[in-house]
Amino acid sequence: MIKKCLFPAAGYGTRFLPATKAMPKEMLPVVNKPLIQYGVEEALDAGLTEISIVTGRGKRALEDHFDISYELENQIKGTDKEKYLVGIRRLLSECSFSYTRQTEMKGLGHAILTGRPLIGDEPFAVVLADDLCVNLDGDGVLTQMVKLYNQYRCTIIAIQEVDPAETNKYGVIAGEMIGDDLYRVRNMVEKPAPEDAPSNLAIIGRYILTPDIFDLIKQTEPGKGGEIQITDALMKQAQNGCVIAYKFKGQRFDCGGAEGYIEATNFCFENFYKTGKAY
Ligand code: UTP
Repeated sequence: MIKKCLFPAAGYGTRFLPATKAMPKEMLPVVNKPLIQYGVEEALDAGLTEISIVTGRGKRALEDHFDISYELENQIKGTDKEKYLVGIRRLLSECSFSYTRQTEMKGLGHAILTGRPLIGDEPFAVVLADDLCVNLDGDGVLTQMVKLYNQYRCTIIAIQEVDPAETNKYGVIAGEMIGDDLYRVRNMVEKPAPEDAPSNLAIIGRYILTPDIFDLIKQTEPGKGGEIQITDALMKQAQNGCVIAYKFKGQRFDCGGAEGYIEATNFCFENFYKTGKAY
């Protein structure tokens, strides 16, 4: 059973400056909830109750958000405003939260390796909270992936088809189809130019990783941009054993940039806020 979910949240969020100068990108509100709360809710819905967050300097708001504010609780006790806190109270009562700091921002692979002491030697999920994933028609994306993990017992990465002109924003995979929306990964390239991309199947911010990934990251040299890329370690894992890419059911919004963030805001306003499902 997978119980742990790691949230790498130490990045600088430069695409969202100046908003992210003194505030973590993961705390940007989509309508009335910060991005990371959507991610933790998705994790809890998938049965993942041990939440580990990799933070960095200037990210203390994350820890405060997943804690009780006694003054606030006292202030709104017995008023109709209590309904606003129902969702976050559920997370606090059903999940545990632990934190570690990444002291140098050396990339996503390095951030995941920084989380190793919180994860230990067991399979775990990774959520990049700035990718907001929703599925109005059934299981959340992590739930879909946990089910697949229980079947295949190997690393599962979420993919989606992207505009071929935009492959340079993603890790891109190639592989053989082994089932509906499922591929066994044979090749993986980080941010390829469209003419070099092996497909238009792009990795997005949801992973289930087996713990051998940690040693593979350790052996990974800095790649594109001087960062330790998770894609390089995943490529080794695919060569050694098995990595499955899954074209998930649902929608994903890239909230790390203005366009996706606005789309997510409109979507959540229509589908959650206006329908009373936002708390
Ligand atoms: P991104 O590249 O999307 O995030 O990393 P970023 O660096 O914060 O944003 P930009 O590109 O400058 O706007 C993907 C995820 O990995 C985390 C980020 O917080 C984000 O959730 N990350 C990235 C780390 O935790 N540490 C790092 O060193 C790099």
